Amino acid sequence: MDIVTTAAELRARVAAWRRDGARVGFVPTMGNLHNGHFSLITLCRSAMGGRADRVVASIFVNPTQFGPNEDYARYPRTPAQDQAGLAAHGCDLLFAPAVEEMYPFGIGQSVRVEVPIVSVPLEGEHRPGHFVGVASVVTKLFNLVQPDVAVFGRKDYQQLLVVERLLRDLRLPIEIVGAPIVREANGLAMSSRNQYLSPAERERAGLIHVALLAMQDGVNAGTPFADVERIAVAMLEKARFVTDYAVVRSAQTLLEPEPGQRCGLIALIAAKLGGTRLIDNLPIDENAAVRRLFETNHVSFANPLTNL
Ligand code: PAJ
Repeated sequence: MDIVTTAAELRARVAAWRRDGARVGFVPTMGNLHNGHFSLITLCRSAMGGRADRVVASIFVNPTQFGPNEDYARYPRTPAQDQAGLAAHGCDLLFAPAVEEMYPFGIGQSVRVEVPIVSVPLEGEHRPGHFVGVASVVTKLFNLVQPDVAVFGRKDYQQLLVVERLLRDLRLPIEIVGAPIVREANGLAMSSRNQYLSPAERERAGLIHVALLAMQDGVNAGTPFADVERIAVAMLEKARFVTDYAVVRSAQTLLEPEPGQRCGLIALIAAKLGGTRLIDNLPIDENAAVRRLFETNHVSFANPLTNL
């Protein structure tokens, strides 16, 4: 795996591959990589197929997406370990720029990209400016790499929607793949921030997934959304989480669903444990909802052939 730190070197490498007809895949990260990140590299390669294809990863702890009281300075940085992991998972090129390379005019003077509507609720409310930072750096990275395919994790579900919207609005010809969430054995979604947790907290943090499963069950059982949300918050607070949100939303828009809506829903949670803020989500299983509807209404499908 080659490692480059400047935009010029990155462009030269990718241009040479393109001359050879390769399709280029891209996985942006902030480093301190774990199996969740590595699954994106693997998926990126299989999404493209074919041996000529190349995968670029970036590691850049992007200062503009951190709030003033957030963990930018202490965000874990483990470059040697990350490089070994990326190489072992078949990454061809790592782009690891310095802040000055990505923000040549300084972060206060840089171009900002704002994605309206889908950036506004949930993380947008709790982390003002976060998605402007994400959208700005992702636009810069897309412009430098110009990939055919880019893979993002569904762990950061709202981020995935923001990036999809950004691509469609800017008419960038990049295919986005949303990767499944990789979890620890206790259900905790893997995250670089998990290492801020003590061993006891890490065990307890599996409750977020349990709460999401309870929300899914509640919706599928026909419990009103407000009750489903209240129960999830109570579960979390009982285990001493401070909940930013535990909500059922429309998966396409992140808006509040219609009262009777049973399709296209997702449960999302953001909660703090000690000083660590964790996010996770779970799509509501529509098939289960439909099955339940048929069960409760005693509807059965008559076989049209036997009715002839
Ligand atoms: P980072 O938090 O490093 O995550 C990089 C990518 O890995 C994101 O697409 C994220 O959703 C995905 N990811 C993280 N944990 C995962 C898990 N447990 N399962 C599946 N995918 C997971 O997200 C960012 O960096 C930044 O905002 C970035 C997009 C790089 C812009 O700075």
